[in-house]
Amino acid sequence: MYGITGYSNGYHQNQQQHSSEEKRGGGRRRRGGRRSRHPPGFRVSDHHHYHYNNDDDDNKQEQKAPLPCTDFDMAYFHSYAHVGIHEEMIKDRVRTDTYRAAIMEHQSFIEGKVVMDVGCGTGILSIFCAQAGAKRVYAVDASDIALQANEVVKANNLAEKIIVLHGRVEDVEIDEEVDVIISEWMGYMLLYESMLGSVITARDRWLKHGGLILPSNATLYMAPITHPDRYNDSIEFWRNVYGIDMSAMLQLAKQCAFEEPCVETITGENVLTWPHVVKHVDCYTIQHDELESVSTRYKFQSMMRAPLHGFAFWFDVEFNGPTNSPTNNHIPSLLTGASNNNHIDGIQKKKRANPNEALVLSTAPEDPPTHWQQTLIYFYDPIEVEQDQVIEGSLTLSQSKENRRFMNIHLEYSSGGRSYVKESVMR
Ligand SMILES: C[S@@+](CC[C@H](N)C(=O)[O-])C[C@H]1O[C@@H](n2cnc3c(N)ncnc32)[C@H](O)[C@@H]1O
Repeated sequence: MYGITGYSNGYHQNQQQHSSEEKRGGGRRRRGGRRSRHPPGFRVSDHHHYHYNNDDDDNKQEQKAPLPCTDFDMAYFHSYAHVGIHEEMIKDRVRTDTYRAAIMEHQSFIEGKVVMDVGCGTGILSIFCAQAGAKRVYAVDASDIALQANEVVKANNLAEKIIVLHGRVEDVEIDEEVDVIISEWMGYMLLYESMLGSVITARDRWLKHGGLILPSNATLYMAPITHPDRYNDSIEFWRNVYGIDMSAMLQLAKQCAFEEPCVETITGENVLTWPHVVKHVDCYTIQHDELESVSTRYKFQSMMRAPLHGFAFWFDVEFNGPTNSPTNNHIPSLLTGASNNNHIDGIQKKKRANPNEALVLSTAPEDPPTHWQQTLIYFYDPIEVEQDQVIEGSLTLSQSKENRRFMNIHLEYSSGGRSYVKESVMR
């Protein structure tokens, strides 16, 4: 995940997170979020040159020229050369165990087949695929972490099976199609980091007809939240500081704490209603232009009387086989019911009760925490809502024109007869 770059909004939710950030140089870090002043050189491994076979294009979607690699992209890839980011992701057992389980669950599809790992990082998913019996794995990463992946692969005697390509998926070439694409591409609020576009590019360049994509689909949710502790801790605190009235600090405190989205862990108790589906992504069919801007209208009815402090966002991804997609039997998790509040009687779908259901990696507040946590957009001032009070409005998430890794967030909301607009940027 790519993040609020070297930036801290001053709020550290828990000490553990705080100290691990400090170990890596201080400031709130997000996956992929550190900027480089000296972007690295950029090359495909010298010893593996593959040529994309353009004769075989007939059953592929029409391919556009790849997006140029900008300085922002270089900085993004450079941020992934840092060991800390990979350590954090790999130590996220919910994430890594679910990927491994998904690979083993699709072993019959992977065995003897050709796999591409889009954004291999340290190579962990490629190695899982080799362990599942893949004939060959192309492990592609544009970051210098690919050099480490290559060493890891050699040290595990997998160099015959796993071919590490150091370069962008948009630029590398291989001379065969692949049966399986695996990728861990999800950023905060699912779409932040804009890595899904690279999975689409890989799919359109190399995936065989009927091939498998893991994960197969993803869903971004939003819900209104109440979080008095957080508000008191960052804002109300200034009203009485060692007996001194520091209310003069309130405006600045609100601006500094809540101007940008915050990545924090909340629980189901903070959530005021069933969630709304902001975007459903089918990895087999999604197109690049769908990702440039995502808009939705929402309407909630608060389940309780509470101060409304903002909205939470989270996502889940499913690992379905190709036959289940695009018409997968998506049943969301407890807080997931409801794009349109059609909740599912409290049925919680995480790791599925029924083995025929897809494996799910959930980052919902009621599920075990992950390194993605949840993303919160706080209001500067809470709104007191009554039970059943309507909260409605619209949301647009768009890739920043300046740097498509960043996300512009335009939020309109109204409740109790008053309307508000909040613009923020996730950078
Ligand atoms: C979230 S990390 C996942 C790493 C690894 N697959 C894992 O699960 O631990 C994403 C990786 O994708 C790489 N990446 C992102 N976009 C890419 C692209 N267009 N081409 C090649 N690598 C890319 C990043 O450099 C980063 O190492």
